[in-house]
Amino acid sequence: MKKILFVTSEAHPLIKTGGLADVCGSLPKAIADLNQDIKLIIPNYQALKKTEDVRFLFSLRVDNRNINILETKLPDSHVVVWLVDYPTYYNIPGNPYVDELGEPWANNAARFALFCRVVVEVAMDRAYQDWKPDVVHCNDWQCGLVPALLSLENDRPATVFTIHNMAYQGLFPVSDVAILNIPGQLWHPEGLEFHNNLSFIKGGLVYSDYVTTVSPTYALEIQTSEYGYGLEGLLEYRKDSLGGVINGIDLDQWDPETDASLPYNFSEISLDQKRLNKTALQTKFLLPVKDNVPLFGLIGRLVEQKGIDLILECLPEMMEMEVQFVLLGSGDKVFEKKLQAIALQYPNKMSINIGYDEGLSHLIEAGADVFLMPSRFEPCGLNQMYSQRYGTIPIVRKTGGLADTVTDTLPETLLNNSASGIVFNEASAGSLLEAIKRALILYSTPEYWKKMQVSGMKKDFSWQKSAEKYLSIYDSL
Ligand code: ADP
Ligand code: GLC
Repeated sequence: MKKILFVTSEAHPLIKTGGLADVCGSLPKAIADLNQDIKLIIPNYQALKKTEDVRFLFSLRVDNRNINILETKLPDSHVVVWLVDYPTYYNIPGNPYVDELGEPWANNAARFALFCRVVVEVAMDRAYQDWKPDVVHCNDWQCGLVPALLSLENDRPATVFTIHNMAYQGLFPVSDVAILNIPGQLWHPEGLEFHNNLSFIKGGLVYSDYVTTVSPTYALEIQTSEYGYGLEGLLEYRKDSLGGVINGIDLDQWDPETDASLPYNFSEISLDQKRLNKTALQTKFLLPVKDNVPLFGLIGRLVEQKGIDLILECLPEMMEMEVQFVLLGSGDKVFEKKLQAIALQYPNKMSINIGYDEGLSHLIEAGADVFLMPSRFEPCGLNQMYSQRYGTIPIVRKTGGLADTVTDTLPETLLNNSASGIVFNEASAGSLLEAIKRALILYSTPEYWKKMQVSGMKKDFSWQKSAEKYLSIYDSL
């Protein structure tokens, strides 16, 4: 049995801003199910939704500050969670990273550097809890200093760093190096320095024993200049200790047969019930209730990564077609305004909800016919998997995890029952429109449509295989 300290800045259902939380809330459970001793460590944010008992465990003195470590459980699981309690930094309202205006908290470098230092103390068992992990598994830039600082320790645990998104690197001005008291041995271009900035993510990429990312295709893509954001050389250099492990989904939360947020549960043998969710979704979004009009859905952060600009370009033509479109998301204000303006223009066809709503996201997955995910890049992506599981046909661009999890509908894939979505290549409005038109043709042939739905619903998106892969990585270190 391995002892694993799993380090993250978000984990569903404690706190979530995106897919990182879905993964960090479900992968530890899957690893625990493989009989491993895994503990999750996370800052004790004010917004954390703690439902299990919380108890004080021990105190630490780090950087001349008194830190308390509290213990709770990941809701509905046996996974132990250690909360890093330092109210000055974490007991603030709202989002872990940004303020109400979407601006990063001014002291983010200090907040996450302190988190990393506390993790190092815990990982070295310097509070004498008689629990020293064999492996410290870090996720994204917020944890990046952990492998870097641990590299300076003797008799340290092995380190794994998982990249969930190369677009977010945790870059801070060079002046922070002194303020944060970054050890001199780490401060050089082959270390934490990146074009005269302090790079948190480089701490993970340079110093961890093994680097993973969340799909095999993205693992290759990030070694190219198009996707590597200037770090492609480093990633290529590390290619022998860099691997892609595809994300799974939490089947306790995302199962159309048991999903408590759906008005009607269904499975591949009761797809008629899915239609009732479509009616509920149309009603909720104040669209005309029409069963035979294909209903498109989108849930996500409204940022360039997600190809929202491509959708905006397609919308005028799409709105001339016999379709409906519902969207739930928030992000870039320019995208939000443009989408709202088009929705106002076509009230019978398009309806949007600018915001964040977990329950509604489940209803969209269940009630829509087609899910749009034309991402410019997508390390893994979860909604295309939720869609397939809910009999909703995803339209995706062939990139990252989208390429690895959706099988395009072609004569041969229809024949061998693997077709589960529509895949297009080029990040252009023209290619997306072609894909939308292909969807409409297939939709008008119910026999094909049902085949696609059923193959998607039968796919295995569970965590088991991927959790085993992580375990064999831990074993190899
Ligand atoms: P990313 O992490 O890049 O945002 P993913 O597809 O990996 O993309 O995961 C996004 C997660 O966040 C999914 O669980 C998705 O349903 C959820 N999500 C995104 N935006 C919203 C929203 N506005 N309301 C509810 N859930 C959302
Ligand atoms: C990131 C990526 C997304 C991935 C998620 C979880 O937010 O953008 O593609 O699914 O992390 O790994």
